[in-house]
Amino acid sequence: MINAHEAIPKRRQGAARQKLAVLISGRGSNLAALADAISSGSVPHVKIKIVISDQVNAAGVELARERGLTTAVIQRRGRSREEHEAEILHELDRYEIDLICLAGFMRLLSPGFVARYRGRILNIHPSLLPAFPGLDAQKQALEHGVKWTGCTVHLVDDTLDGGPIIAQRVIPVRDEDTEETLAARLLQEEHKLYAEAVALIASRDYRVVGRRVLRKN
Ligand code: GRF
Repeated sequence: MINAHEAIPKRRQGAARQKLAVLISGRGSNLAALADAISSGSVPHVKIKIVISDQVNAAGVELARERGLTTAVIQRRGRSREEHEAEILHELDRYEIDLICLAGFMRLLSPGFVARYRGRILNIHPSLLPAFPGLDAQKQALEHGVKWTGCTVHLVDDTLDGGPIIAQRVIPVRDEDTEETLAARLLQEEHKLYAEAVALIASRDYRVVGRRVLRKN
């Protein structure tokens, strides 16, 4: 069964590197790790064309600039979600973006936006989805008392942190863990996982069957 997540347009296929946009709102450590992985050659077939932040003071914007990446700050500024997203979409069109990585982007994308890039938007979340979606995932994990947690990269659909799972990593929760220590250990795994997931999606060496993202060979 083919489903919508597989629908990368034919015209986007070929040897050329896929053009990636990274959307951030804050610290930007996943952006920096991904950019560094791409620069080091461990994520072939991908090129970051633009980093878009919805926050003017996001530390990630500086990290992007330090790496020579093009940045755009597109603030919501009291506008409707539609107006804000229209401006983001305009930038994505301008750079002919093929793939979008959400990396700590703190806004929910509208169904219309998701439909435009269905199967081509990735998100990273600091829990083993479907456990603990939404905000404060590490806190949720600690409060629930799980002994193992992890991080997930998934395709974005219209649900909150609910799209098909591309990749996950698991870590133990230690008795002495606080939200901060758990988040810090998870972040190290997130940085490796996002690069691996982007490499897989950019390689097009996968198919989506129902909710399952499967390697082709
Ligand atoms: C990460 O924990 C990511 O999983 C979540 O938001 C955080 C972003 O951190 N979606 P950073 O801005 O990439 O450092």
